[in-house]
Amino acid sequence: MTPFDFDALIERRQTHSTKWSHPDPDMIPMWIADMDFAVAPAIQAALRARMEHPIFGYQFDLPSMRDLLVERLSSRHGIAAKPNHLIFSPGLVMALHTAARAVGEPGTGVVTFTPVYPPFLTAPGTADKSLITVPLASRSQDGILHYTIDFDALEHALDHADAPPRLFMLCNPHNPVGRAFTRPELEQLAEIALRYDLIVCSDEIHADLTMPDGVHTSFASLSPEIADRTITLMAPSKAFNIPGLGMGFAVIRSPTLRTRYKQLSESAGAFVTVFGFEGAHAAYTQGGAWLEALRVYLGANRDTLTAYVRDNMPQIALTRPEATYLAWLDCRHLGIEGNPSRFFMEKAKVWLNDGAVFGGGGKGFVRLNYGCPRARLLEALDRMCHALNTHT
Ligand SMILES: Cc1ncc(COP(=O)(O)O)c(C=O)c1O
Repeated sequence: MTPFDFDALIERRQTHSTKWSHPDPDMIPMWIADMDFAVAPAIQAALRARMEHPIFGYQFDLPSMRDLLVERLSSRHGIAAKPNHLIFSPGLVMALHTAARAVGEPGTGVVTFTPVYPPFLTAPGTADKSLITVPLASRSQDGILHYTIDFDALEHALDHADAPPRLFMLCNPHNPVGRAFTRPELEQLAEIALRYDLIVCSDEIHADLTMPDGVHTSFASLSPEIADRTITLMAPSKAFNIPGLGMGFAVIRSPTLRTRYKQLSESAGAFVTVFGFEGAHAAYTQGGAWLEALRVYLGANRDTLTAYVRDNMPQIALTRPEATYLAWLDCRHLGIEGNPSRFFMEKAKVWLNDGAVFGGGGKGFVRLNYGCPRARLLEALDRMCHALNTHT
C-alpha cells in the first residue's frame, strides 16, 4: 500500500490548466505532458511554507540546489559535474533553443531523430541552423511497436547533409516513442559523435520517469570525453509533475560551450522563479518515495493500456514505453477518414496529440498521455473503442 492516492479524480478546470482548457466539459484530455496527480505532499508543504513570507523578489540562484544536483547527477545518473557546470532555466524548451543557438555558426546543421517532441524540429530554424532529420527504425510485433536507431541512415544523413552538421539533439528517454536508449545504442551514437565532431544536446527531462522495468542511461555518463561534448538537459518538471513551476537546468562541462550557452541564456532573461526553486528543492530532497510509487502506478497504467488495446482495438499498434507516460499509437489501419486525433476528439471526446506534428511519418499516429487515474484512462479507452465500433 502506498500513502499516495493516484486514483483520486481531481477537478482541474478552475485552475486554468492548459490540458483541461477545452470548452466541452465532457472532453477527456490526454494530450499535453502533465499528469492529473496531486504532487508530493512535501512539495505542497514547501511551497506553502515559502508563501508565508510575503516578499517574492528575484532569486537568481540556489547554491544548496547546485550541491544536491551535483550529488544526484553522480549517484543517480553517473555524471561527474561541478556546481558551476549547472545553468538553471525556467524550462527545457527554452534550453533546447539556447543549445541550438550556442552550437555552430549560422547555416550549420542540427541533427535529430524523428518522430520527436516538436521543439526539436523548430529550435534549429529559429537559431538560423539547418534541420537534418533521421527517422528512427520501427517494427511491430504482436501489436507492440518498437523503435530503434537506424545507424546507417544516421551516417548517410551526416555524409550527405547540405549544411555541415555540428549539433546532435538527442531525446533520451524519447518523446514520443518511449525508448530509454540502451548503453550499447548510446555508445554507438557516441562513437559517431566523436568521429563527426558533433556536440550532443541530450534532453533527459524524462530520465526519472523510467517504468519499473526501464533503465535510463545518461549520454554524458558514457565517458569523460563524451561528457565534455555534451549539454545535458534535466528538470524535475515531468517526474514530479511541476512543469507549471518552471525549473530546469543544463549541465555543461566544456568551459567554452558553457560560457557561450550561459551568455545566451542570461541575455534572454532565463531565470527560475522563487517557487520553481522551492518546488524543485523539495522534489529532489523529499519526493523520492512519491516518485517510486508513481513509477509503479504508471507502469500499471501502461500495462492496462497495452492490454486494453490488444484485446479491444487490435487494429492499433502501440509502443510499450520504457520511460515517460506517453504512448504512441499507430492509427493508420483504422479505416477512418482523415486525422485520427480529430476523429477521437469529435467522436470519442478524447483529446490526443496529433502525431503529424512530431515529424518523420507521424501522420496517422496519435500520442496518448496515460499520466492520469486509471479509471479515467479506462473511460477514455472505452470511448475510443466505442467510437471505432460505431463509426460509419
Ligand atoms: C523531451 C521534452 N523536452 C522538453 C519538454 C518541455 O520542457 P519545459 O516544460 O521545461 O519547457 C518536454 C515536455 O513534454 C519534453 O517532453
